[in-house]
Amino acid sequence: MSSLFLISVLISLGTSIGIVQAGNPNYRDALAKSILFFQGQRSGKLPSGAAQQITWRSNSGLSDGQLAKVDLTGGYYDGGDNVKFNFPMAFTATMLSWGSLEYSKKMEPQLTNTRAAIRWSANYLLKCARATPDRLYVGIGDPNVDHECWERPEDMDTARTVYWVSPSNPGSDVAGETAAALAAASMVFRRVDLKYSKLLLRTAKKVFQFAIQYKGAYSDSLGSAVCPFYCSYSGYMDELLWGAAWLLRATNDVFYFNFLKSLGAGDSPDIFSWDNKFAGAYVLLSRRAVLNNDKNFDSYKQQAEQFMCRILPNSPSSSTQYTKGGLIFKLPESNLQYVTSITFLLTTYSKYMSATKHRFNCGNLVVNSSTLRNIAKRQVDYILGVNPLNMSYMVGYGPRYPKRIHHRGSSLPSLASHPKTIGCKAGFQPFFYSSNPNPNLLVGAVVGGPNQNDGFPDDRTDYSHSEPATYINGAIVGPLAYFANLN
Ligand SMILES: *[C@@H]1O[C@H](CO)[C@@H](O)[C@H](O)[C@H]1NC(C)=O
Ligand SMILES: *[C@@H]1O[C@H](CO)[C@@H](O)[C@H](O)[C@H]1NC(C)=O
Repeated sequence: MSSLFLISVLISLGTSIGIVQAGNPNYRDALAKSILFFQGQRSGKLPSGAAQQITWRSNSGLSDGQLAKVDLTGGYYDGGDNVKFNFPMAFTATMLSWGSLEYSKKMEPQLTNTRAAIRWSANYLLKCARATPDRLYVGIGDPNVDHECWERPEDMDTARTVYWVSPSNPGSDVAGETAAALAAASMVFRRVDLKYSKLLLRTAKKVFQFAIQYKGAYSDSLGSAVCPFYCSYSGYMDELLWGAAWLLRATNDVFYFNFLKSLGAGDSPDIFSWDNKFAGAYVLLSRRAVLNNDKNFDSYKQQAEQFMCRILPNSPSSSTQYTKGGLIFKLPESNLQYVTSITFLLTTYSKYMSATKHRFNCGNLVVNSSTLRNIAKRQVDYILGVNPLNMSYMVGYGPRYPKRIHHRGSSLPSLASHPKTIGCKAGFQPFFYSSNPNPNLLVGAVVGGPNQNDGFPDDRTDYSHSEPATYINGAIVGPLAYFANLN
């Protein structure tokens, strides 16, 4: 990107502030819906009654694990397909847990539902870590085969291949993230279910030990089963940092602090995602530096602030592009995932700063808690419809939202309305290629979102913009709780 282009983006960002309608999103409504979404992504045996309010879904994947003679039912499908990819699923669980730890008081009355969403993935991750000694199961369903079909999860007849890492085929990235998820979840349940919390923490420690004892990238061990879908492009150092940061927060054990220090400086990213967690780890670790003035964590605070300086639009070291409508624009595929993850870091660091009236500088730009909060609010508001198209990117929220999301279950008739099996290829015509709206509303799903020009085709075949994902929603729950309470 040329600097001239950057300047023109910044100028248009400045002038557009006046144009975009003020808007008054209902954050509480959006918060409730963002959590409800996870019920639509559930795999395994579904509960009945009020515990399963997305009623067009039914049981699926009931034999998951059988090919390895273990029970690996449960967990979430990552997006619009029927595969269980543990790497992004664990990241989603970590972000949901982080959200409920930072914003628990603000999350009422949604705290119970958030815990249920966390537990649904934590139960599955526990199975994956505990079923077989010396193995961590990391995924179910051959993604290449699955992607050739357009069928409901309830009809799934594709190979439910079981994937795992082990001492001879390691995966420090997926193990580090799984450890992070279990450690974070253990804190969520500490006051409500101590026994469960202890099991989560014990398992987190074990999985992390595996991650550091047998170092390697799971992409090297599993190849086309995880790449290009959820390849660990950023390597595994970020997951080791992130995993150790979560275990330190959960245990306060100096072992994890020493391990963190042994990892050295780490990267300087301008992104945060299921793949690259450096920035998340910096913000998480900066907490004690900002809130308690603990000098041991100063280097992370500096890295967290340098990250913010790469995000803020008026910062001299900014490397972040914004659309004319004011949306952070990182990458053309599923851009909103980066927006929600980065927004989580903005609100959370803003919250830390606000508690101690902390400020920092990006060159000559003075940044205080409101600087970060304002940018975060613009991102959340944009997603909820304050944008040039007046389009909410959360299904079922507001008067105008995506109607043709790239999601098998949502786009095919439900079992109740069409009990007969719809086979692998039978879903493409007439359902996938149809221009009709999806028959089933996946309430709360946030999709990949608009393009660089704030445009959105609402086209089911266009997965880059129309597919929802657990990790997009997993990261927006915290910021929605934050703004719901500020109102
Ligand atoms: C942050 O700085 C801006 C601009 O100087 C100022 O208007 C705002 O009141 C400050 N907010 C806080 C919380 O200090
Ligand atoms: C969005 O809403 C504003 C304010 O109501 C209106 O002026 C504008 O024309 C709308 N834009 C579109 C694309 O509908």
